[in-house]
Amino acid sequence: MFAVTAARFNADDPLSGLELGERPDPAAPDGWATVTVKAASLNHHDLWTLRGVGIREDRLPIVLGCDGAGVDENGDEVVIHSVISDPDWLGDETLDPRRSLLSEKYNGTFAEKVVVPRRNLVPKPPELSWEEAACLPTAWLTAYRMLFTQGGVQPGDTVLVQGAGGGVATALIVLGKAAGLRVWATSGSEAKRKRALDLGADAVFERGAKLPDRVDAVMETVGAATWGHSLRALRPGGTLVVSGATSGFNPSAELNRVFFLQLRVVGSTMGTRDELGKLVKLCQTAGVRPVIDEVMPLTEARRGFEKMARGELFGKIVFTL
Ligand SMILES: NC(=O)c1ccc[n+]([C@@H]2O[C@H](COP(=O)([O-])OP(=O)(O)OC[C@H]3O[C@@H](n4cnc5c(N)ncnc54)[C@H](OP(=O)(O)O)[C@@H]3O)[C@@H](O)[C@H]2O)c1
Repeated sequence: MFAVTAARFNADDPLSGLELGERPDPAAPDGWATVTVKAASLNHHDLWTLRGVGIREDRLPIVLGCDGAGVDENGDEVVIHSVISDPDWLGDETLDPRRSLLSEKYNGTFAEKVVVPRRNLVPKPPELSWEEAACLPTAWLTAYRMLFTQGGVQPGDTVLVQGAGGGVATALIVLGKAAGLRVWATSGSEAKRKRALDLGADAVFERGAKLPDRVDAVMETVGAATWGHSLRALRPGGTLVVSGATSGFNPSAELNRVFFLQLRVVGSTMGTRDELGKLVKLCQTAGVRPVIDEVMPLTEARRGFEKMARGELFGKIVFTL
């Protein structure tokens, strides 16, 4: 089968380890299903993998891709939940210390076929296109959990989303508006700030700008470049939810601000199968749809990776098969 793999790690030149070509068809162990992939979407995670972050070298070569939607052996249309927990794990699978995401331990979705535990299949509703469904399991699920599980926001709250153009960030804007929040967003690009307004953000700001008011919660995926601004933006007792750090993992912690203002700093990673099911329902009932930057054939995946590495996208890049 045709697949897109990480063959080598290179921290400075991640795309040098990207390979497109033939790989053996996968065999599904007991309890696992084979999904014929219709669409898969790119995440920053795929670039981190090529840089060697979050994965051991002895896993290489590995098929990339956390997100996908397709058809299982029974002909059912499915969205693939990417968090693979231990078969004996009970409860929230994101808390299983042995959990992995597709493409970390098991081959991912950038291939004609992928095998996953059968319990990781979520029915795809007909309202969602293959391309839209393929955006949900990572960036959109992460945004859902950041807002509604870890952020605990209420309708009417004001939320600041840092780095408006990213896959997670665009999801945060759309989901936040659907849930009745006042959504403010920052971006380093004027064009992306304009597009964030078009998506429904109530106001947009340059990176680091002074805000008209303190916010109830901040959603962080940018990391070092925006961390100080995120802490300064919060009202006393506000919540900073962080799920990523594209620009760096080690900003100053500014502990004085954290304890004087009694801020809550909460980590968030992916989401549960249950949350993915709720996100799918929200798309069905509220008419919410993932923001797609560009759809391209999987054979052109390198161009999609290049676009993400340059930070030139607004929303998700989707590969079709
Ligand atoms: N924990 C989890 O489960 C989880 C899940 C999904 C993603 N993540 C992480 O979250 C991060 C975002 O993921 P994504 O897929 O949404 O990535 P993405 O689409 O590549 O996000 C890129 C956005 O981040 C902002 N950005 C990038 N570099 C920046 C810098 N140096 N300074 C300021 N802003 C910068 C830019 O926003 P503007 O150009 O608009 O300013 C850009 O549009 C990644 O680090 C990813 O690994 C974690």
